Amino acid sequence: MKTRPCILATLMLTLAAMLCAVQARAEDGYDLWLRYHPLAPEQAKLYRGHAAELIIGSATPTQAVTRSELQRGLQGLLGQALPLSDTITRDGAIIVGTVASSPLIAKLQLDTQNLGGEGYVIRSIVVDGHAATAIVGRSDIGALYGAFHFLRLLQTGQAIDHLDLRESPRIKLRALDHWDYLNGQVERGYAGTSIWDWWKLPDWRAPRYTDYARANASIGINGTVVNSVTSGATILTPAYLEKVAALADVFRPYGIRVYLSVRFSAPIEIGGLKTADPLDPHVQAWWRAKADEIYRLIPDFGGFLVKADSEGQPGPQDYHRTHADGANMLADALAPHGGVVMWRTFVYSQANPDDRAKQAYEEFKPLDGQFHANVLLQTKNGPIDFQPREPFHPLFGAMPKTPLMMEFEITKEYLGFATHLVYLGPLYEEVLSADTMTHGKGSTVAKIIDGSLEGHTLTGMAGDANIGTDRNWCGSDFNQANWYVFGRLAWNPSLSSRAIAEEWVRMTFTNNEAFVKPVVDMMMGSREAAVDYMTPLGLLHLMSPSHYGPAPWDASESEADWRPVYYHRADRQGIGFDRTRTGSNAVAEYAPPVAARFNDLQQTPEQLLLYFHHVPWDYRMRSGQTLWYELVAHYTQGVDDVKQMRETWNRLDGYIDEERYRQVAAFLAIQEKEAQWWRDACIAYFQSVSGLPLPPGYAPPQHSLKYYQSLTFPYVPGVSSW
Ligand code: GCU
Repeated sequence: MKTRPCILATLMLTLAAMLCAVQARAEDGYDLWLRYHPLAPEQAKLYRGHAAELIIGSATPTQAVTRSELQRGLQGLLGQALPLSDTITRDGAIIVGTVASSPLIAKLQLDTQNLGGEGYVIRSIVVDGHAATAIVGRSDIGALYGAFHFLRLLQTGQAIDHLDLRESPRIKLRALDHWDYLNGQVERGYAGTSIWDWWKLPDWRAPRYTDYARANASIGINGTVVNSVTSGATILTPAYLEKVAALADVFRPYGIRVYLSVRFSAPIEIGGLKTADPLDPHVQAWWRAKADEIYRLIPDFGGFLVKADSEGQPGPQDYHRTHADGANMLADALAPHGGVVMWRTFVYSQANPDDRAKQAYEEFKPLDGQFHANVLLQTKNGPIDFQPREPFHPLFGAMPKTPLMMEFEITKEYLGFATHLVYLGPLYEEVLSADTMTHGKGSTVAKIIDGSLEGHTLTGMAGDANIGTDRNWCGSDFNQANWYVFGRLAWNPSLSSRAIAEEWVRMTFTNNEAFVKPVVDMMMGSREAAVDYMTPLGLLHLMSPSHYGPAPWDASESEADWRPVYYHRADRQGIGFDRTRTGSNAVAEYAPPVAARFNDLQQTPEQLLLYFHHVPWDYRMRSGQTLWYELVAHYTQGVDDVKQMRETWNRLDGYIDEERYRQVAAFLAIQEKEAQWWRDACIAYFQSVSGLPLPPGYAPPQHSLKYYQSLTFPYVPGVSSW
């Protein structure tokens, strides 16, 4: 009789405890990699000895946010609040700041020379007989970056007792480009709508803006272009500039500058002028006055990003002027204030019948040396348009007198939108480590954009953001890794994408090795899987006009070079775009040794084969199999890889919170379905062209070609309709 209530009570208590545990673990991805969840008890105990008190000022806004981030982070990770102190009272003090702001730090005499404005040192030291950790920058921002690095060490379970770290960014401008419109839509956005609530700005500054700034600062991003490169001119009107200024105020303590995309014809549209000719003195005066107006509101404004004479956007060529004329005019308006122009090289003309891959180089290369000192040319990683795989852009290394900055796409416009798990680290790394040979062996793209090879100090890397109003910011948990890896590589383009993936997994999910290793392996293979099930062997641009799903047959677009058939050139005899000397001669835009390699069918890496060559279906590949066989094999491999990813994930149930686990599982199921669709539709189409039977052992497409061609998808996300 007695035991019964006792068992019941115990049962209820257990149930309540389970519920609490589940609730405590419930996660929606909002916290990104800054979750600061309690570490394993033994790990936390180890760290507590080195995190006993915090000595940090709060005299400036940046010092204040550094302090609150460390307090928040350490309390979350270690499970207890850290006392603040002015002096060292025990072992385990963390001393944070700059030589200028703290006499205690000045006394330490750490070597902070050559750190630059954003660098820092983290050092284990002994002061007055006490073990301590110093996190020291030459500026408050340097100290903030150091604080985030220190937190990362704890988040990823690394030793912190003998630290001797020294870091400064290799690239100066590390910016996110938002393709956001003032009506809230996001061009190629798959994570909801724009996080900028323009309507309520400047009065309402959503807390999310601060969290955005924290996330960016934690990975070293120091710039944000808040509107799309194809926006109208309204952003430059006084009412909107006030809204932009409010955002800039929120971001400033985190070292983030605001930039704007500007429409070249703004002087006509909002300035009442009759022309936007860059050589017209009224136009020049208008932009000067506009720059002055902006800097009155935003003293640390970063500058302008410009898409001109590209895909219907206005530009200097409307007035028979060059890109240099246009960029320099804007640069001169910004120069007195220290601003820069990021002028995009993504230009091609539908009036030009020549290979689209060649056009940016032809347009810009002759202008080398003509740009003013505060102009950077923002260049996409490849010559076409952010495809799953392209060779590096031939402009890298071809304009030694001009700083070229990298533009990567973080949003997965061509890589499965929100749902496909595709970690872009390997793509970025492949491009950054590509050898342009323009200054001899070792002339990597990384060394061109970090300025070291050509002696530029103005350097930059931009990433087209994947951020929106979804609770998890990026449309899926794994897409957060693409924002993360972009920031880390912009800080140091030589980092390994695998090491970055591992950091991210540990911070975002768990330090449990049984989870970390398989997930990192899965991420590292995911980009190649997508290449295989979408566009293997150097194919590209096989998607439908909405950029959703396969349509290699499509010839519906108004312009030739928007059609998949323009790119793959498949016919009864073979497939691929001949860009050799006897073809479009796009190879000639690369340095001679690279051009020679790409020109030679035997030497071209097979992963770029059909980008550079038109090859017969029965061409013998290195494996000894025919091209047709290999094409089918790659498509099939891509699907098998996704199946494998699903199996890996299925084995990992229970290691992380249910919410994120289940969404990843559901998205992987979508990815498998769509990978199969890509494979089957492409094989069905290419088989209809080649007329060849499927190699033995390979399953035929699940449906007829007609079926795939009949599919339509209204309301595809990311396609703006303003
Ligand atoms: C791609 C993309 C467009 C974008 C353009 C650009 O073509 O589909 O939405 O505007 O790139 O980068 O300018």
